[in-house]
Amino acid sequence: MKEIKGTTKLCGLVGNPVEHSISPLIHNNLSKLKDIDMVYTTFRVEDEDVDSAIKGAYALGIVGLNVTVPHKQRVMESLVAIDPLAKAIGAVNTLVRDEKGFKGYNTDILGLERELMDEGLSIKNKTCIILGAGGAAGAITFLCASREAKKVFVINRSLDKANSIKEAVNAHFNSDIVEVLGLDEYERIEDNDCLCIQCTSVGLYPNVEDVIISDDAFYKKLSAGVDIIYNPYRTRFMKLCNKAGKKAYNGLKMLLYQGVCAYELWTDTKISASECQKIYTKMRA
Ligand code: ATR
Repeated sequence: MKEIKGTTKLCGLVGNPVEHSISPLIHNNLSKLKDIDMVYTTFRVEDEDVDSAIKGAYALGIVGLNVTVPHKQRVMESLVAIDPLAKAIGAVNTLVRDEKGFKGYNTDILGLERELMDEGLSIKNKTCIILGAGGAAGAITFLCASREAKKVFVINRSLDKANSIKEAVNAHFNSDIVEVLGLDEYERIEDNDCLCIQCTSVGLYPNVEDVIISDDAFYKKLSAGVDIIYNPYRTRFMKLCNKAGKKAYNGLKMLLYQGVCAYELWTDTKISASECQKIYTKMRA
């Protein structure tokens, strides 16, 4: 690392826990690549200290912050402005300096969109299938609806959680774009060219043999599958996509791009595809 001087800028990650985050690797390597004198570190912050931490960070001149679990919703109360996409999703993971305070963005979702673009996967006019109904699933359902998917099916074990996403997104877009299905109801999807995004925690290390739906018939309905899990690098969901002859991607690029989008917002720079690839190689090492 370069020598830290009086002029070195600071940014970082607020969450709890934060110590094992891969974000310092992403951002400090981006600064090295771009030759920008900025350091990224982590800040473990308790629930009751979030507001004072954010205001204190602003007062200290911190250039930007990422926010992770469990503060992505709570932090919204401490901001002076929120990007419309993040506001509609109801979660913020990136703070950018604005007049009198920080403005919030959701680069988790911008990161997924960039991963999809990178892989040549389009949401527009596609039937999208979202597996799961947690925070990530809700945000990604919103993304699919806002990027003009043909239809979005939310498939989940608990129908009440899936129905809450459906009601919120359909009300926002004043449409019936989202439909809910139980885990054994996927046969009701007529399209055989669907983009499926796996948003449950099923299959996460160490339970690497688990998968939310194991029937081959389900995977035949897809054109491609994206698992937001990246540990393991190749999940059982991805293997089942491949077995059915479909392309499959994991969540590591989504993680890379949420960082890249945040870095671009903080430094007003553009990170090229080849620079992204260099960071990606380091993340995989
Ligand atoms: P997030 O981190 O995105 O907020 P979460 O709130 O932890 O995620 O949600 C995890 C998702 O994985 C949920 O959709 C959950 O299903 P339920 O809503 O029915 O709880 C799903 N999930 C977790 N373990 C599961 C299992 N063993 N079988 C089926 N679904 C499971």
